[in-house]
Amino acid sequence: MIQLSLDRVRSWFTEEHQKRLAPLAEFAYGELQNAQKDAFGKGWMSWPVDNHDQLFSDIDKIAADFRSKSDVTVVIGIGGSYLGARSVLSMVHPAFTSADHQVIFAGQQLSPTYHAHLLKYLDSHEVTVVVVSKSGTTLEPSAVFHTFRDYVEKRYGQAEAASRICAITDANKGSLRGFADEKGYSTLPIPDDIGGRYSVLSAVGLLPMALSGVDYRKVMKGAANIRESFAKLAVTENPAVTYALARHVLYQQGFAAEALVTYEPRVADFAGWWQQLFGESQGKDGIGLYPTMLQYTTDLHSMGQYVQDARKILVETVLDVFIDDAPELKVPVGLDEKNKYLENVSYAKLQQVAVESVMIAHSEAGVPNMRIEAKGDAETLYGELVYFFEVACAFGGYLMGINPFDQPGVEAYKSEMKARLQ
Ligand code: PA5
Repeated sequence: MIQLSLDRVRSWFTEEHQKRLAPLAEFAYGELQNAQKDAFGKGWMSWPVDNHDQLFSDIDKIAADFRSKSDVTVVIGIGGSYLGARSVLSMVHPAFTSADHQVIFAGQQLSPTYHAHLLKYLDSHEVTVVVVSKSGTTLEPSAVFHTFRDYVEKRYGQAEAASRICAITDANKGSLRGFADEKGYSTLPIPDDIGGRYSVLSAVGLLPMALSGVDYRKVMKGAANIRESFAKLAVTENPAVTYALARHVLYQQGFAAEALVTYEPRVADFAGWWQQLFGESQGKDGIGLYPTMLQYTTDLHSMGQYVQDARKILVETVLDVFIDDAPELKVPVGLDEKNKYLENVSYAKLQQVAVESVMIAHSEAGVPNMRIEAKGDAETLYGELVYFFEVACAFGGYLMGINPFDQPGVEAYKSEMKARLQ
């Protein structure tokens, strides 16, 4: 269940704004719903309720096979082919709990140290490899995939290696598709009309989920639930629309950046997924709020000073998540006099008091604060949050008059690198 609270942003984003912008919201929502417009990027919209029987059966088969022949799967990918999978795994498996099958990400950067140490680590494990690349030509995952392919081929021999590698890529085209077919790898498709940063609910995220024991059907159900609830609401009642409208008004008022603030470490990687979604979708044509992340209360003891006292360029969106499996923990008794007020207080209460106090302090200092409360089991909630923010982001793109599904800006460095290396 997701709820948006606007109390601490009302001095900037008023009910009057909402009323006046209603026609613009209707227009932008119409653009989002228009299947003909930017059709190449809109496959994610109906995806949670489309029929995936074949895909799910393929995913289950590959996951069971890889889990039976290995204890570690290296998942290679970058950007949209990485951030979603990472975020769902860390939300479902919090720190100090271990999944019964280890998923390790690689190819999300080019560090020789990281990858060489990982290769060494693999020597004492049974290994399978998943490479995720829609284009099949992204430099980082290409270089790293062939390094790990070479490793498994040398270690297990060509034939066995082929049975330990899965490629998630375009269904029909691209060099990874051709290579995988030639080698006889198992493969899963990335739909043509779903771009990288909108793809976590496709095989891109679902196979890593299945490998690490996440109930991905529940994740899909979460996305389907919120999709259904949006369909029943008037556009102006839709919380994803309201969130996007608030961001739009705040940007026009001169705010330059939005921080997604998390209080739960298990949700911090979700902020990384959110950052890519908004950064790559809306940061174009010289406009767009700069999406950043803050992890409270940790960052209150560093960046908190800046947020409270420096130039007011920042908007804070608090992602206040309560996951049902959170254990109960209380501060014990026997504290010294000055800390006695903490005795017997639950951590959940401390967390909530922190959220409220920080929102008051920051908003009174001139930092608009929105709060998105989300409660439920980790898998369902993950699906709900993904769909909520995808709608908000794509709708917000249409409000701004940009195409939320392309990313021309990431091509420049790629061409420069290729030119230097070829
Ligand atoms: O959202 C996007 O389109 C990008 O972040 C891509 O996911 C990223 O560049 C990786 O691309 P590919 O999957 O083609 O290797």
